[in-house]
Amino acid sequence: MDPQEVKVHLRQELKNLREALNSAQRESAATAAQSKVVSLPEWKKAKVVCLYASFKSELPTTLLLQNLISSEKKCVLPKVNSSGQPELYEIKNLQDLELSSLEIPEPKITCLRIDPREIDLFVVPGIGFDRQGNRLGHGSGFYDRLLAQANPKAFLLGYGYDFQVVDSIPHQAHDIAVHAVATPCQIIHIKPA
Ligand SMILES: Nc1ncnc2c1ncn2[C@@H]1O[C@H](COP(=O)(O)OP(=O)(O)OP(=O)(O)O)[C@@H](O)[C@H]1O
Ligand SMILES: [Mg+2]
Repeated sequence: MDPQEVKVHLRQELKNLREALNSAQRESAATAAQSKVVSLPEWKKAKVVCLYASFKSELPTTLLLQNLISSEKKCVLPKVNSSGQPELYEIKNLQDLELSSLEIPEPKITCLRIDPREIDLFVVPGIGFDRQGNRLGHGSGFYDRLLAQANPKAFLLGYGYDFQVVDSIPHQAHDIAVHAVATPCQIIHIKPA
């Protein structure tokens, strides 16, 4: 199987596991994962953080979003523009969010546009991650395109359930790896190859 085919199978398998969780399991996992994230030195140090609003069966980012909004840090979220490309905007509160056509909360167009190079830390969603930092997303390349514009010094933090960390994720030249992965049980720091 070529890498794209392996990705398709793995996406389905990992999504099924996520969808099998009940809301109590989701909430306790999110509580544990957010406390791991906020204890990270890179989080504490970051002045500008790009988060995302979780949707469907993703590990909820609600607590992280509340924490970020009420902190001194700038809270930045991505928005899909009319050409399907990522753009970043700063939000000040939850009223700055609206549902996109895909039913994903994203910043209103009236929010302040932020240059991706301003971000100190990206919390990166994924359907799967491996211990080398490779990441499996939804398959549109949205985050790969966004992270390609990041400052090379930015810290890229994957965020997901423990079972989303697998032995190996096939990757291609355009795939951007993360520096660490936060799950409810641990922070996995990726060692440089
Ligand atoms: N930097 C890029 N520039 C142009 N096209 C890209 C780029 N990154 C990814 N793509 C396109 O997006 C497609 C899907 O990418 P990939 O399989 O890596 O998605 P993903 O990382 O799983 O999803 P996502 O990044 O949306 O979460 C690729 O086949 C490629 O054509
Ligand atoms: Mg990719």
